[in-house]
Amino acid sequence: MEQKFIRTHFVEMNLGDMIEQLGEDVTKSILSSFSCPVNRDIENFIKERAIEFSKRTTAKTHLVFWQTEDEKEIELVGYYTITSKVITVDRKVLSKTEAKRLRSQGIYDEEKQEYIVSAPLIAQLGKNYAGGNDTLISGSELLQLAVDKVRKIQREIGGRFMYLECEDKEKLLDFYYRSNFKFFGKRKLDRDETGIEGDYLIQLFAMF
Ligand SMILES: CC(C)(COP(=O)(O)OP(=O)(O)OC[C@H]1O[C@@H](n2cnc3c(N)ncnc32)[C@H](O)[C@@H]1OP(=O)(O)O)[C@@H](O)C(=O)NCCC(=O)NCCS
Repeated sequence: MEQKFIRTHFVEMNLGDMIEQLGEDVTKSILSSFSCPVNRDIENFIKERAIEFSKRTTAKTHLVFWQTEDEKEIELVGYYTITSKVITVDRKVLSKTEAKRLRSQGIYDEEKQEYIVSAPLIAQLGKNYAGGNDTLISGSELLQLAVDKVRKIQREIGGRFMYLECEDKEKLLDFYYRSNFKFFGKRKLDRDETGIEGDYLIQLFAMF
C-alpha cells in the first residue's frame, strides 16, 4: 500500500492578535487544554496570566502550532513569552569579543566591573504535553523560534544580546548550554515569584 507523506510546519500566533481575531473566550478555551506536568509554572502562566500580561503589554506571548500542509490538522505544541528588562552582567563572565559587543549596547560601571544593559528576556518557554503534543516539536525547535523572533526584533531596533532565566536543574541547563546559551549569574527570586523550585534562578545569555 502506498504511504502518503504529509508535510507539516509550525505556525506562530501572537496571543494579542489571537484575542483580536477569535475573542477572549475562544482563546481561553484553546489555552485551557495546555498541560506541562514537568513545570507547573509554565502551565499556570499560559492559563492564568499570559492574557493579562499581553493586554498590559508587560510581556508578549507567542503560541506555536503544529499544522499539516493541507491545514486539516492543527495542534498547540508550545509557547514562549518575551519581554524586555534592564540587567547587569559581570565583566568576568564575558569573553573579550562579548565584552566589546556589550560595551556598545550598555553602560559599563568601572567600579563594579559590570555592564548594565536593556535586553530582551525569553521569560517563559515550554512545550504542551497534552495529548502527546510535545512529540510534535523538539525543545530546540521551540527555542529557535523564540531566538529567531528576538533577532527579528533586534534587526529593527538594534542589539544582539538576549537572556533567559531557569531553575537550577541539570536537564534544563544542559538543554540551554546545547543551544549556545552561557551562564552569567544567579538572581534571587522576588517574593511574588511563587511556584518555582529553589530561591534563585540561573541566568543565561546568548549573543549574535
Ligand atoms: C525545556 C524543554 C523545552 C526542552 O525540550 P526537549 O529538549 O525536547 O526535551 P524533553 O521535553 O524531551 O525533556 C528532556 C528531559 O528533561 C526533563 N525536563 C524537562 N523540563 C524539565 C523541568 N522543568 N524540570 C525537570 N526536568 C525537566 C524531561 O522530563 C526529560 O527527562 P527524561 O530525559 O528523563 O525523559 C521541554 O522539556 C519543556 O517544555 N519543559 C517544560 C517547561 C520548562 O521547564 N521550560 C523551561 C523554563 S526555563
